[in-house]
Amino acid sequence: MLIILLLLHMNFSDELVQWYIQNKRDLPWRNTNNAYIIWLSEIILQQTRVEQGLPYFNRFVEQYPDVSSFAAAHEDDILKLWQGLGYYSRGRNMLKTAQLVNELYNGKFPEKYDELIKLKGIGEYTAAAISSFSANEAKAVVDGNVYRVLARYFGIDEPINSTKGKKTFQQMADELLNQEQPGLHNQAMMEFGAMLCKPKNPACGTCPVRTGCFAFIHNTTTTLPVKLNKLKIRERYLNYFLIVDGDTLLMNKRDEKDIWANMYDLPMIETPSLISETDLINLPQLNDHFGKRIKTLDISPVYKHILTHQRLYVRFITIQPEQVNLSPNWFFTDIENLQKLAMPKIIFIFIKKIFNL
Ligand code: ADE
Repeated sequence: MLIILLLLHMNFSDELVQWYIQNKRDLPWRNTNNAYIIWLSEIILQQTRVEQGLPYFNRFVEQYPDVSSFAAAHEDDILKLWQGLGYYSRGRNMLKTAQLVNELYNGKFPEKYDELIKLKGIGEYTAAAISSFSANEAKAVVDGNVYRVLARYFGIDEPINSTKGKKTFQQMADELLNQEQPGLHNQAMMEFGAMLCKPKNPACGTCPVRTGCFAFIHNTTTTLPVKLNKLKIRERYLNYFLIVDGDTLLMNKRDEKDIWANMYDLPMIETPSLISETDLINLPQLNDHFGKRIKTLDISPVYKHILTHQRLYVRFITIQPEQVNLSPNWFFTDIENLQKLAMPKIIFIFIKKIFNL
């Protein structure tokens, strides 16, 4: 499937390279095949945008024109030159890498992907960039620009930050790579993403490949690429107690600090994990309200309830208490009134089922 898709778009790379030749910015690291100079530029550009990175790049090249001079530098001097870019361990790692390269490769920065990838601070993207720009090695770069261009053009909605998504995009980029001129192809993909197929307001009006672009045709440039929300999902275990007295049920009015603010639910104890029924009915908070001799009449399965940033594990325990010491937010209510109260869906569904409403 992937191969067929890519065959249909054989001239995609040619179009982008053509566009690149006509529209590229004249940037100093593009006029060289010196791997050391390209390495400098790539590490700086990992940290900042082109405009802000340019003066840093120029100062580094002037001060340290080759890897031997860089390797002989003092850490303080590197950090001073790096000042303002942030993430200072990157500056320190550069010095270590330069020293290692100076020893291991006699002052000549490696150009081969397999050698580059072993160096500190050089990952897949940087190794592909340096090897393809300096020695035309056929390694496809995949950075944020490339993800965006591929996701939009081919209509790929797999999250770019999922393991599967990363694999899919790398595979596509590898298949698309122009084997004759991989360096040019890589530069073109990145520049096209940075200048035309921009995150916001892409210039589709002047895009040379828009007639084959999925996102342009389906009007989905704002939703592609897809990125997983990496916000940590909080897991919570909510144990609800169902206490019936005649034809009334004990309810709770929630406060406003948590989920379901000011709505109604049942008396509840939150536990850090799922605990056994015995441990549950022996919890001191429960005993304070309902006494020590609590009879468990029924226990529901654990229901999973997904909220935007929380995963709730909810269960309902029907108990016959020894006594009832009301909390300020608790009250008994009859079935008729019950139905007028605003409740979270999961609570409402359960109560409806219990009372055949
Ligand atoms: N960002 C990262 N590498 C780049 C490069 N070689 N040219 C322009 N922007 C870049």
